[in-house]
Amino acid sequence: MAGNINRQILLKSRPEGAPSLDNFELKESPTPEPREGEVLMRTRYLSLDPYMRGRMSAAKSYAKPAAVGEPMVGGTVGEIVASRHPGYAVGDIVLGSGGWQEYALSNGAGLRKLDPAAAPVSTALGVLGMPGMTAYVGLAEIGQPKPGETVVVAAASGAVGSVVGQLAKIKGARAVGIAGGAEKCRFVIGELGFDACVDHRAKDFAAQLAAACPKGIDVYFENVGGAVQQTVWPLLNDFARVPVCGLIAQYSATSPMPGPDMVSVLRKRLLLRGFIVWDFAARQGDFLREVGEWVRTGRVKYREDVVDGLERAPAAFLGLLQGKNFGKLVVRIGAPA
Ligand SMILES: NC(=O)c1ccc[n+]([C@@H]2O[C@H](COP(=O)([O-])OP(=O)(O)OC[C@H]3O[C@@H](n4cnc5c(N)ncnc54)[C@H](OP(=O)(O)O)[C@@H]3O)[C@@H](O)[C@H]2O)c1
Repeated sequence: MAGNINRQILLKSRPEGAPSLDNFELKESPTPEPREGEVLMRTRYLSLDPYMRGRMSAAKSYAKPAAVGEPMVGGTVGEIVASRHPGYAVGDIVLGSGGWQEYALSNGAGLRKLDPAAAPVSTALGVLGMPGMTAYVGLAEIGQPKPGETVVVAAASGAVGSVVGQLAKIKGARAVGIAGGAEKCRFVIGELGFDACVDHRAKDFAAQLAAACPKGIDVYFENVGGAVQQTVWPLLNDFARVPVCGLIAQYSATSPMPGPDMVSVLRKRLLLRGFIVWDFAARQGDFLREVGEWVRTGRVKYREDVVDGLERAPAAFLGLLQGKNFGKLVVRIGAPA
């Protein structure tokens, strides 16, 4: 490949807020030669994914940021054009992480050979790749839709959302998409087979979404965050599941949204689930047996703040709201036991 030019898109600078073209730079370099144990791939497809916004930033996340002055990171489908690796031959088509460039070297780590006869090779970056897998695991592991339930997903015409809705339908659920614009919505219903799709740019978006979800929402597959999330939230049913998959509307925010930081819910894979103690009434016997023993043996300690006299109950309660109690606040009524 000596003599060929490798065009690369470098990360030139890190954006503050929304990225701009100024953050990127096109560079032409000589195409590298593979060393022993390496292959040279010619990129056929480069995947562009929302996570890349995160990689442009130096903020701590689940993956390390792209380096300034280096090609942007990205998944690729490439053709092996030179090989000094025993596992790969010229002509092989592979899924890899070549980044934003026309040619990339690899030592084989993380490469997966693709069979062009099995499916168009570009699908390895989409429906049969990371985004499809994201939809699949997010729905199965966290969303867990049941027949008859309502599953809502935004960015519904996109890589992840399109799969989410279709899998929800396969599971017997009602799939409601949210997408930007009438054309996307028509596709989501007509081509993908969702039951409904609402345009989040419509003035009456909230009313349309409520009408599309007459029984509320059982699974909200969170792909976007922001204003869409705020519209969805009041429609969530008891025990709704929210796989927090993506928050694309917030990736370029320069100040945090009010409320819990959903970006950290995503990045740290936090599990949020409300509960009322009696949801777990069946565990009461276990609790009493186990903790009762620990209290008896002093392994579990406790402190009580005892107020004497019913008449002092209101003031004691108000004090509780101001942190004046120290320990479990109880009112002792009548003679000390
Ligand atoms: N957790 C994971 O492992 C994981 C893996 C893959 C992807 N993701 C996340 O999943 C989400 C979807 O990713 P994708 O690859 O499938 O992208 P995509 O849906 O193919 O493309 C992004 C779409 O997001 C929507 N969008 C962008 N800005 C928006 C905003 N401000 N408000 C509402 N919608 C907005 C747009 O669709 P509309 O025009 O329809 O609004 C846009 O087309 C992203 O948040 C991504 O980060 C997470």
